[in-house]
Amino acid sequence: MKKIPVIIDCDPGHDDAMMLMLAFGSGRFDVRAVTTSAGNQTQDKTLSNALKILTLIGANVPVYRGCEKPLFRKLIIADHVHGETGLHGPILPSPSFEAQALPAVQGIAHILEQSHEKVMIVPTGPLTNIAAFLLAYPHLKNKIERISLMGGGIFRGNMTPLAEFNIYVDPEAAQIVFRSGIPITMCGLDVTHKALVFQRDIERLRSLGNKSGIAAAELMDFFSIFYRENRSELDGGAALHDPCAIAWLLDPGMFASKPCFVDVEVNGTLTAGTTVVDFYDVLNQQANAEVVYDLDRGKFIELLYQAISVLP
Ligand code: RIB
Ligand code: CA
Repeated sequence: MKKIPVIIDCDPGHDDAMMLMLAFGSGRFDVRAVTTSAGNQTQDKTLSNALKILTLIGANVPVYRGCEKPLFRKLIIADHVHGETGLHGPILPSPSFEAQALPAVQGIAHILEQSHEKVMIVPTGPLTNIAAFLLAYPHLKNKIERISLMGGGIFRGNMTPLAEFNIYVDPEAAQIVFRSGIPITMCGLDVTHKALVFQRDIERLRSLGNKSGIAAAELMDFFSIFYRENRSELDGGAALHDPCAIAWLLDPGMFASKPCFVDVEVNGTLTAGTTVVDFYDVLNQQANAEVVYDLDRGKFIELLYQAISVLP
């Protein structure tokens, strides 16, 4: 089966790390590059974390350092969820390779210019790098097949009552992406809060016995603390946000979604960073995103487990 060409833009981050394990373990992607965004932690830390995770799973692909901060705003990090390092929990290997010299925006342009086919983009952090690329290289927009992103929400937020972290950190960047005209799949909190990993799933990963399975379990041990202390409605599960954006590309049939008009609020006092999703098409606007809102959790967890089982 032909591999899917993809550029992954992420801010590792526990669930970003699980997303990388799914992407590489699935064997279904031609990962042209990993670019790192500032979000869960500072750019220094997300870049280091990406290199460590890729070293752990034996994935030596070009890694590009992304923007240091949002387009117009101060950086807000999520150390309350991911810890001081951004990947608290397992002891990870020192990186066996370095990032490319080119910054991420130029790196994305180089890859798309060289590519003979369109490329998927999978952002799972703030959309700063993607927006900066679109502003700098508008003529390369047509080399992007689709953007399958983790971000936003139809009816809820996690940083404010209505704004999800990735969008909240850089609302202007998100607005540029959603208005770009590029096909978008939006995996927001409505689906990711159903993509839950429970202790039994964590123990199953640990019992794999390979380095990646043990590290995944230790990452989820720490990641679960926040959810058990702050999201009691999830019955002890932790939300595997970022793997959804990759899993949708692997098996969209495992999800429920619908085309919707989506825009991003950048000004509201209470609503800045909100993805305004016209779920019932009351505005009668052209849909610009496939909005994902449900999934088969068992299939999702099994996909992740099988991917991690083949990693080092
Ligand atoms: O709101 C969840 C998102 O914010 C996930 O991508 C998580 O990794 C953080 O970046
Ligand atoms: Ca993330």
